[in-house]
Amino acid sequence: MDESALKQLIKLDEFAFRSNLDRKTLDLVFDRRTLEAIKYAFSRYSIDYLDFPISTGKESVVFRAVSDKRYVVVKVFKMSTLKFMNIREYIEGDQRFVKQRIDRMSIISLWVRKEYTNMLTLYEKHVPVPRPIGFFKNILVEGYIGTKEKPAPQLKDVQVTEEIYTMTLDGIKKMLSARLVHSDLSEYNILYHRRRVYFIDLAQAVDIDHPMATEFLKRDIKNISTFFSKHGIKTSFEEMIQDIKNAIPKNLEQED
Ligand SMILES: Nc1ncnc2c1ncn2[C@@H]1O[C@H](COP(=O)(O)OP(=O)(O)O)[C@@H](O)[C@H]1O
Ligand SMILES: [Mg+2]
Repeated sequence: MDESALKQLIKLDEFAFRSNLDRKTLDLVFDRRTLEAIKYAFSRYSIDYLDFPISTGKESVVFRAVSDKRYVVVKVFKMSTLKFMNIREYIEGDQRFVKQRIDRMSIISLWVRKEYTNMLTLYEKHVPVPRPIGFFKNILVEGYIGTKEKPAPQLKDVQVTEEIYTMTLDGIKKMLSARLVHSDLSEYNILYHRRRVYFIDLAQAVDIDHPMATEFLKRDIKNISTFFSKHGIKTSFEEMIQDIKNAIPKNLEQED
């Protein structure tokens, strides 16, 4: 795919106009396989165009996109990030795997599939998460949380209330009932929209039977309790753990 095709895909003029991100931070150079994956995802999920980048991080670029006159989110996982490089080195350094060439795209595809599967599980159990739409290679397509004007803010940019705290706690309990521990929970991965919270960034969520699940859950609770208590909500790590105990399936409870 040549550069003019990319320009059409990304509608550069709209970027310049609508994005309030520092252009220097927009690392929008995708490799050929990613562009091909985007092209395929466009036709598979009836996406008309990428509207503007909502966020560019180390591991992904998140776009608002338009599909059949509705907004959706297209999350493009970068092909050259540290996390994936580590996974690759780890596997390739293992003598058992030397003969098997581990393809970076296939590792990332697994990661994307994992985020999609987690999102679907939670969505079906009525945990507030974006609507899972589909995935292809390193591309995830999901429902857009936000208004016509702008995406929903992260919790870190919201004036938090007791109500928001309760919704967050309820969400964590519901996730546990759906057998998942978010494992990267913080005020960055929770959005606030129309008086509701939404949990996002679900690739690293693990089953409650995962050997690290208890540890991840404690870390999540630590992050969330620290955030809320710093912003004037009367809570603590111990209080949250206590509250959650009833929702924690037996196998997690016993490890304490
Ligand atoms: N479905 C969505 N609707 C609106 N904004 C989103 C959505 N998903 C992600 N975002 C925005 O993009 C940012 C990065 O997405 P996230 O899934 O957390 O990826 P990363 O791994 O880069 O942190 C989020 O913090 C949020 O601001
Ligand atoms: Mg995130």
